[in-house]
Amino acid sequence: MAHVIAVATLKGGVGKSTVSLNVATCLHQSGTRVLLIDTDNTTRTLRKWAKKADELGHEVPPVVAIDGQMLRRELERVSSAFEIVIIDCAPNDDGETRSAMLAADLVLMPVIPGGPDVWAVQETIAVLEQARGFRPEIKARLLFNRADRTALSRTAWQAIDGMRTETLDATLRQRVAIGEATLMGTAVVSSEPSSEAAMEVRRMTKEIVEVLRG
Ligand SMILES: Nc1ncnc2c1ncn2[C@@H]1O[C@H](COP(=O)(O)OP(=O)(O)OP(=O)(O)O)[C@@H](O)[C@H]1O
Ligand SMILES: [Mg+2]
Repeated sequence: MAHVIAVATLKGGVGKSTVSLNVATCLHQSGTRVLLIDTDNTTRTLRKWAKKADELGHEVPPVVAIDGQMLRRELERVSSAFEIVIIDCAPNDDGETRSAMLAADLVLMPVIPGGPDVWAVQETIAVLEQARGFRPEIKARLLFNRADRTALSRTAWQAIDGMRTETLDATLRQRVAIGEATLMGTAVVSSEPSSEAAMEVRRMTKEIVEVLRG
């Protein structure tokens, strides 16, 4: 069975799709058989990204679209040929997010440090706790995206502290290259492999695999 990662925060624009496609491309590049599942029928970011990749001839991992409500039925069928499956969740449906979490070995919850985005993650953790009522073994990590050091030290840690959820050591900083690569149907580990951004993605991917297998 494939290891399943759900990337889920009940908040728009925190970087769920960005984390999903960057980590998946990094794994794909290192020879891991990885599948991306796009359950977000509104923004369809991964589908659009894969289409762009096709148009421009970029090598990216396979992307399939599955309705969140069909996830339980479809996951086993689509994932059998893969080692790792990454589910990119929609921001606005706690039912679908719960389904993805119930199927996951690891839940990653991207959060932009500072202010209301940090509070919004509390709702996501509440859904995670419900899922853990059925499957206590689900692992979870918060993940700081668009982090800058000041915000991290000043506000984020205070807010996160009370949530009793582990946080990945690796963070992604605000990087123009990350947005540009996405727009071009690729990812920084391919488009700018020696950039700081690519190094952050590789560090993050390594830590995620360690958590998953650990
Ligand atoms: N670390 C980063 N550096 C620069 N830009 C980023 C970074 N992370 C995300 N972005 C940009 O922020 C925007 C939102 O990111 P993304 O689409 O990944 O969020 P999301 O959580 O999937 O949003 P939604 O909930 O709408 O699906 C995108 O334009 C993306 O390129
Ligand atoms: Mg998205």
